[in-house]
Amino acid sequence: MKNSKDINKIICADTLKLLPQIEGNSIDVVITDPPYFLDKLDNNWNHEEVSNQNNQYIIKSLPAGMKFDREQGKRFYTWYLDISKEIFRILKPGGFFFSFSSPRLYHRMASAIDDAGFEIRDAFMWLYTQNQAKAMGIDHFIKKMDIDEKVKEKIRKKLNGWKTPQIKSCFEPIAMAQKPADHTYLNNMLKYGVGLFNTNVRIGDNMYPANVFTIESINELIDKAFLLPKPTKKEKGEYNDHKTVKPLAICEYLIKLSAFAKNAVILDPFIGSGTTAVAAKKLGKNYIGIDTNDKYVKIAKKRLKKLDDKPDLFRKLKIKAPKRNFNSYKFSCKKFIIPFSQPST
Ligand SMILES: C[S@@+](CC[C@H](N)C(=O)[O-])C[C@H]1O[C@@H](n2cnc3c(N)ncnc32)[C@H](O)[C@@H]1O
Repeated sequence: MKNSKDINKIICADTLKLLPQIEGNSIDVVITDPPYFLDKLDNNWNHEEVSNQNNQYIIKSLPAGMKFDREQGKRFYTWYLDISKEIFRILKPGGFFFSFSSPRLYHRMASAIDDAGFEIRDAFMWLYTQNQAKAMGIDHFIKKMDIDEKVKEKIRKKLNGWKTPQIKSCFEPIAMAQKPADHTYLNNMLKYGVGLFNTNVRIGDNMYPANVFTIESINELIDKAFLLPKPTKKEKGEYNDHKTVKPLAICEYLIKLSAFAKNAVILDPFIGSGTTAVAAKKLGKNYIGIDTNDKYVKIAKKRLKKLDDKPDLFRKLKIKAPKRNFNSYKFSCKKFIIPFSQPST
């Protein structure tokens, strides 16, 4: 088997240095949640800095995620282009590349993947209703103005409720890219065992797979079409203090959709606490995980070991969208509905 020394291993390394050691055309699917290049979450990810509670909400006197740095997107593009070129080389023809991102820098990430030679086939969306709002009030700035107190008060009243332009972020975009197929999709599938999607996979209430998913019950319609199993308390591991652990069900969904071969290899070049590898292992697929941080590598290995000890530990309940009455449906829909008004002529 290709890559035999790395198969089913979690490797502590800088991905950019490790990927060149992986054989070309040898990986079926790459699923990854790279550093989003927002604030401290970049390719110099430092566990202590990221985990320090004092750093969570204030960075250089601005809340985390608020500081607008045009250069961050450019740095992300340059770095991710090199990563994507390597991923292109090691994927089999027709192999899939799923890459999570933030709404703010998705465009840079998708362009890097595109420019590396991939076909961007779709953008998936992980939808949720809860997140911390990052907008800042402007009282602090009004206070500093060199004007009369009464004028300040007037401005304060006039701009009551107006904040810096960041509303609650409630989705994560995921680029779905594919290495070009060898001739037809069918030819590619028969030759390399990858390249088509498994539409037998179900989502929500036994529905055809969609490019939108959620892991929280929102309302009858959304649950019916897009709900994946909610994470169990056990799946993360109580020892796991990684700040951005992905839900297992999402990784499982993407693997089930895209990995056909029995011995398919799923690679996550930014494995963090190991979620992609745990999902691959649960589904009987091979994995390779890479992370620079030794602490996360240990956590990932521990989670994988738990799966050996108790294969049923993360067993999921069957996906079934909960039944709701129409009143509660109307109520929960309010979260997203904007009242319709006629445009004035
Ligand atoms: C968003 S997290 C991944 C979390 C993961 N999906 C999980 O469920 O735990 C990104 C990871 O990339 C790692 N990382 C950052 N730069 C890296 C690099 N150059 N090479 C390898 N890993 C890196 C960080 O240590 C971090 O764990």
